[in-house]
Amino acid sequence: MNLQRGPVLASKVFALVLVALAGWTIPAIGAVGARAEDKPYVVKDGKVDKAVYNGWRRYTESCLRCHGPDGAGSSYGPDLLHSLESMSEENFKEVVVNGRQNVTAATTSVMPPFAQVEDVMLYIEDIYAYLKARSDGVLGRGRPERFDR
Ligand code: HEC
Repeated sequence: MNLQRGPVLASKVFALVLVALAGWTIPAIGAVGARAEDKPYVVKDGKVDKAVYNGWRRYTESCLRCHGPDGAGSSYGPDLLHSLESMSEENFKEVVVNGRQNVTAATTSVMPPFAQVEDVMLYIEDIYAYLKARSDGVLGRGRPERFDR
């Protein structure tokens, strides 16, 4: 008569264990900073992961002098935050690798190629992640703070 009780109880205990595990695991992932599937960056409470921080650093070293502080553009180079609203990651990389020139009678606008510049090529993913976070409006101006240390 009581034959069913054992397995039923066992499955209830099993379900409880699953709930408890989920309860521990999900906040733990949040604390580390899960990357949203379609985003190249992790930003949590205005703080960034190592990749985005490095992207800021490399941007500041190699791109700021033409594209202005924080990617926001200057009188010489375009506002990259605006560019990345519509530009694909592939397109972005293509321009950085090969450069681009726009020469008219009135102006000469030159984006140099970075294919030979190791400090840019090695970290192009990080630079893109930083600029994309800025472009998406989830990261403010200035030197970002890291959450992972
Ligand atoms: C010497 C100045 C200079 C430097 C340094 C520079 N850029 Fe540029 N960049 C430009 C100019 C000027 C343009 C616009 C070219 C044109 O008119 O086609 C441009 C265009 C771009 C574009 C295309 C924007 C669009 O809307 O089509 C991207 C992306 C870009 N730069 C990324 C970078 C990154 C990333 C770095 C640093 C690794 C960098 N640039 C460094 C001058 C510079």
